[in-house]
Amino acid sequence: MELKGKVALVTGASSGIGKAIAVALAQKRAYVVVHYGRNKAGAQDTLKEVEKVSSGEIHSADLMNHDDIRLLFDEIRKTTRAIDILVNNAGDARPGEINDDGVWEYEYKNILLSAIHMSYEFLSMPSSHLRKIINTTSLYGNLHTGNPQYLQYSTFKAALANVTTTLSKSIAPKVIVNAVAPGYTETPAWANASKETIEAYARATLIGRFVTPEEVAHAVVFIAENDALVGQVLTLDGGTSLKGMP
Ligand SMILES: NC(=O)c1ccc[n+]([C@@H]2O[C@H](COP(=O)([O-])OP(=O)(O)OC[C@H]3O[C@@H](n4cnc5c(N)ncnc54)[C@H](OP(=O)(O)O)[C@@H]3O)[C@@H](O)[C@H]2O)c1
Repeated sequence: MELKGKVALVTGASSGIGKAIAVALAQKRAYVVVHYGRNKAGAQDTLKEVEKVSSGEIHSADLMNHDDIRLLFDEIRKTTRAIDILVNNAGDARPGEINDDGVWEYEYKNILLSAIHMSYEFLSMPSSHLRKIINTTSLYGNLHTGNPQYLQYSTFKAALANVTTTLSKSIAPKVIVNAVAPGYTETPAWANASKETIEAYARATLIGRFVTPEEVAHAVVFIAENDALVGQVLTLDGGTSLKGMP
């Protein structure tokens, strides 16, 4: 897929990986719809970066609320032509014990249902040409590298990886679905981690450091451009799955 002139909607583009994806797609001259939840200043900053090389717009929506997602698509329809690429990137990792129902419900809605509802609204948009969905799963969502302290998050990222492959079977070739599974990636999500924790996680890679958001974004651009990759989950973890979790 040639990205120039395509419309890409990136969720959770107000910081971290989503911001890097929005900018990387803009560098390929895509028009970028920058989605955010609460961090408007972050989204405005992303749009500023996008507009240095291409153009775009910003919209907010709480992705845990299906009505908010419907309104988001209504708003986008008013200003933009059909979306060609949906990047389901937004996500929030909460730790939780097995009996913590609040965290089960939160992560189910935040990680899985949000991406399902976004994909549903995207697929409901009429289109006659090839479109793409790219999900952000996680190293923790891969089969043997879940984090027991993040049981719910790991579980629903794994489910999102399965949606990536299973949905592909019914909607290709019109819509191609793939995912990136980042390992430890240097974003504001790690802002509250101690220096010791960061160092321990960096040592758990084979590259001796965190993955950068730009490295994940580079993979998203590759997936968007390459039409032979279908239903795949591309892991970018600096070798953590090979070395073993800390
Ligand atoms: N960083 C890592 O090490 C790592 C590793 C593996 C996977 N990931 C995944 O990568 C994705 C991006 O993470 P990140 O590290 O870049 O985190 P981040 O900097 O904290 O960004 C998270 C983004 O998700 C948005 N978001 C979360 N819940 C939302 C909701 N209910 N409604 C709307 N927006 C919501 C946030 O919006 P606002 O801030 O505007 O509210 C923000 O834009 C997530 O899916 C995460 O699980 C991250």
